[in-house]
Amino acid sequence: VTRVLSGIQPTGNLHLGNLLGAILRWVRMQDEAPCLFFLADLHSLSDFIPAETRRAQVRAMAAALIASGIDPARSTLFAQSDVPAHAELCWILNGTARMGWLSRMTQWKDKSGKNKEGASVALFDYPVLQAADILLYRPSHVPVGEDQKQHIELTRDIAIKFNQDTGTETFAIPEPFVGGGVSARVMSLRDGSAKMSKSDPSDMSRINLVDSDDEIAAKIRKARTDPDPLPGDPELLAGRPEARNLVGILAAVTGESETAILARFEGQGFGAFKPALAEALMTLIAPIRARYTELERDTATLDRLLDKGAEDAAALAAPTLLAAKRALGLSRH
Ligand code: TYM
Repeated sequence: VTRVLSGIQPTGNLHLGNLLGAILRWVRMQDEAPCLFFLADLHSLSDFIPAETRRAQVRAMAAALIASGIDPARSTLFAQSDVPAHAELCWILNGTARMGWLSRMTQWKDKSGKNKEGASVALFDYPVLQAADILLYRPSHVPVGEDQKQHIELTRDIAIKFNQDTGTETFAIPEPFVGGGVSARVMSLRDGSAKMSKSDPSDMSRINLVDSDDEIAAKIRKARTDPDPLPGDPELLAGRPEARNLVGILAAVTGESETAILARFEGQGFGAFKPALAEALMTLIAPIRARYTELERDTATLDRLLDKGAEDAAALAAPTLLAAKRALGLSRH
C-alpha cells in the first residue's frame, strides 16, 4: 500500500453499510499509508439540492468521518469542489470515455430508470468524474464497497485508453479494494435482497450513525428474519439472505468469525440472537455518535480543516493534471 484514496457522497446520513464497507476500513488504512478522503459534493450535483442544505451536508459528513476515526492530522480530508482539478480532469476524460461504457453502468440504469430523457447529464457523466477523482492521485488502493467496483473497473478502462491514445503513461491503473464477508455489501434490514442505502425510503432499513440506542434496538428487533433456528455452520446460511446479513454484521462489528458466533447461537432463534446484535451495534455507534454531535457544531474548525485538506490535495493533484494536459497538447509549456 503506497497511497489510499476514496470518497463518499455528502448527501444524507452515514449508515452501517458505509461504515463497514468503507469508512472503518479507511480508518484502519491510515496506519499503513498516506490517505486521501473526500466529500463528493460535485457528484451530488446530479440532483438539485438547495445551497444551504449542501453546505450543511458537506460539514456534517466531514464531522461524521472524523467522529468515525478519520484523523485530519494524518489524512488529507477535503471537499471535491474545493480542488478544481477534479472537474477539469473530468472534462478531459470526457474525450476518452465512450457513451456505450457509461450506458452499461448499473448505477445509471437503476437511477435513471425509465426516465432517461429526464435524467441529468451529470448522472450519466458521474463515473467519468469518479475516474478523474481517482486518477488524479495515482492511489495504490481505492477502498470501496462492492457497489463501486464497476466504477473502478470503468476508471481502469478510461486510464488504459487514455494512455494508449496518447502513447504515454500519464495514469496509473487503479485496483478496487473491496472488503470480505458481509461488509462488502451490507443488506437492508427489511429486505435481504436489497443493499442498505441512504436512498431507501424506509429508515427502518438501515442503522444510521445518528440513531439513538433505542432506535438501534427497535430497528434490530423489527429486522426481517426467517422462522428457522440458526445453524452451526456459516455455509448453511446460503439461501437465507436476512439471516446471513445479520450474522455477517455481528461478525464484522465484533471482529469475531461467523463460525465462532454460530457456535454460540446454534439451534437458537433470532429472539436470542437479536439482543446480542443490538448490543454490539450500540457499542460501535454510541461513541461515534457522541463525537459527531460534538464536532458537528464547530463549523469554524471543520471549515479550517477542509481548507487545509483542499490545499494539500490540490498540490498532489497538480502534476497528474498537467501531465494529462501535456499528453493532449493542451499545455504549450
Ligand atoms: P457512496 O457515497 O454511495 O458510498 C460511500 C462508500 O460506502 C460504500 N457503501 C457500502 N458498502 C457496503 N454495503 C453497503 N450497503 C454500502 N453502501 C455504501 C460504497 O461502496 C462507498 O465505498 N461514487 C461513490 C463516491 C465516490 C468515490 C469516488 C469513491 C466518488 N468518487 C472515487 C471512490 C473513489 C459513492 O457514491 O459512494
